[in-house]
Amino acid sequence: KTSVNDSNLSQTQAQKDAADQNFDYMFKLLIIGNSSVGKTSLLFRYADDSFTSAFVSTVGIDFKVKTVYRNEKRVKLQIWDTAGQERYRTITTAYYRGAMGFLLMYDITNQDSFYAVQDWATQIKTYSWDNAQVILVGNKADLEDDRLVPAEDGQRLADELGFQFFEASAKDNINVKQVFERLVDVICEKMSESVNGEPSPLANHKGPSLQDTPPDKGGCSC
Ligand code: GTP
Ligand code: MG
Repeated sequence: KTSVNDSNLSQTQAQKDAADQNFDYMFKLLIIGNSSVGKTSLLFRYADDSFTSAFVSTVGIDFKVKTVYRNEKRVKLQIWDTAGQERYRTITTAYYRGAMGFLLMYDITNQDSFYAVQDWATQIKTYSWDNAQVILVGNKADLEDDRLVPAEDGQRLADELGFQFFEASAKDNINVKQVFERLVDVICEKMSESVNGEPSPLANHKGPSLQDTPPDKGGCSC
């Protein structure tokens, strides 16, 4: 009877997603990296397919929920968007422990953000679960003319750190979905390895429960 506009529709969908208990797995993911590299923008592009060129620096931490279908499983993603500013470090590192996967971002037009990747990787090692998976993301790939970090440097650093690597653009929607889906897939691969007799992360008291699933679901064929 009443007409519903697009923004109402998408809000309703977001609320449904957040409340939805019908999923096979829940993964907590964290996006980290220097301020202004585009963490919030990447998340908004992925979750809402929106982008704004205005910079509103994140205060503390925030999250969005999105459910994806991978290998016939419903995977509910709780994606935490952290503030890159140093002054929030104590708050944000408190969230590392529960995360199964990280997107570690830098900006291809900003050398400092790339130099900081090593420090962010050390933070992950210090505060997170040992088996947490990490993807290195060089964002703002649309700004080719302003590029200061060659893609090869990003790839080399990712290889050294044992991370997968993507360049992406939240603005032009390049590799955004791919980055998140790859992270979900590497977490799933790690889970099935563990189930198949590898040392179980469940026995690792530093970390969260590996299978954060509803009580009636068990096993992993993810
Ligand atoms: P903090 O919350 O302070 O940690 O920053 P952030 O990493 O969340 O950065 P944010 O997403 O707020 O983006 C910072 C600025 O970069 C904004 O002005 C965005 O519009 C811009 N930006 C983000 N992603 C891209 C991109 O892919 N390309 C271009 N050209 N600009 C981008
Ligand atoms: Mg932000």
